[in-house]
Amino acid sequence: MSMSQYFAFEYRGLLDVGAGSISQIGCRFENMGARRIGIITDKGLVDAGVVDMVKDVLDAQRFPVVAGVYDKIEVDAKSSIINDCIRWCGEMGVEGLLAVGGGSVMDSVKAVKTMMAFGVRDVTEIMRGTAGSHIGLKVRPITFPHIAVPTTAGTGAESSPVAVVLIEESDLKGSIMHPDLPANVAVLDPTVTYSLPPRLTAETGCDALSHCMEAYFCMNSNSISDALALHAVRLIKKYLPIVIQNGRNVEARTQMLIASNMAMQAYSMAATSAPIHNCSHAIGAKLHISHGLANGVLMSTVMKVLAPFYAMRITDFAEAFGIKTEGVAPIDITYATVEALENFKKECGIPACFAQSLNAEDKEDLRIRIKADIAGFTFPLPMEAIDAIMALSFVQ
Ligand SMILES: [Fe+2]
Repeated sequence: MSMSQYFAFEYRGLLDVGAGSISQIGCRFENMGARRIGIITDKGLVDAGVVDMVKDVLDAQRFPVVAGVYDKIEVDAKSSIINDCIRWCGEMGVEGLLAVGGGSVMDSVKAVKTMMAFGVRDVTEIMRGTAGSHIGLKVRPITFPHIAVPTTAGTGAESSPVAVVLIEESDLKGSIMHPDLPANVAVLDPTVTYSLPPRLTAETGCDALSHCMEAYFCMNSNSISDALALHAVRLIKKYLPIVIQNGRNVEARTQMLIASNMAMQAYSMAATSAPIHNCSHAIGAKLHISHGLANGVLMSTVMKVLAPFYAMRITDFAEAFGIKTEGVAPIDITYATVEALENFKKECGIPACFAQSLNAEDKEDLRIRIKADIAGFTFPLPMEAIDAIMALSFVQ
């Protein structure tokens, strides 16, 4: 962007960062006046002992009281489960929400607190059963005490002003957007991410890297989002291979949580061109491929196909990724970056392309889905680019 262009940058929330920072949760809730809190999570994290790690600390501190654990959240932040969760919160007399989990848990809790603020019991009442964004909610502040403990380093959903919800009746995803959606406090404690397996660590880390790319290369980027995105790139390049090798490396796990958070702040406040997410939403939904894996595969194939677009701002990004740029033409730096991303994928165990192959019907369906995805509204991809991305991203 040019320096004379207007931009707004908003972030609401406090970050508690470092090993053991889950011990801050009690006093943070106390400061917000919440006496009874509900832990909202999924069964996998209960079984893995992660929820007990957090609950044991709160139980030992005795304040606030843990009213109960709601562990029914599933992937995709489903509307029926969100509606069940707010009913449970009412029954338990919950005065504060503690989200422990990945993106689906984070987004479900954001939806629950929005419903509390707006006095509705059915999330579709504020989403009207449609896909797309619901941004007419800013007139009323959302003040319900909310703390988030991310257990993956990738989505950064603890700090984004968006909640993506699957409305099951229509099988469509919609977004709730509100400046008060980020958690009042995000607790970036590496110890709760130790048990994340290498494959999921790699995939979620690639999601964070793709957020950096969307934020940095978009038309609305600004100096603040650039600073966050480029430093997050440096951290991910350095630390993601380390955490994949050794999940208990405290320094690397901490830096990945920080990178994920910075990447999402940049993405939330800048990204108007999001070609990687435009394709990954469609491919992920149709073929049930995880969001992180989809972005991991696509980050190099999309850059290769749209090389002239990326070449416009490639130099600083390439340098943050450790590529020498002096005296090299931008388009050649871009192709060198594609190669470096391909090597990084290999190092992290991300495949060069998806295992599936597409028939003519699949291709046509994906073309329509990519064209219709909300991430493409401000940067629609030409049909030839969509076809070329599909050709590079799937087994031929
Ligand atoms: Fe993402």
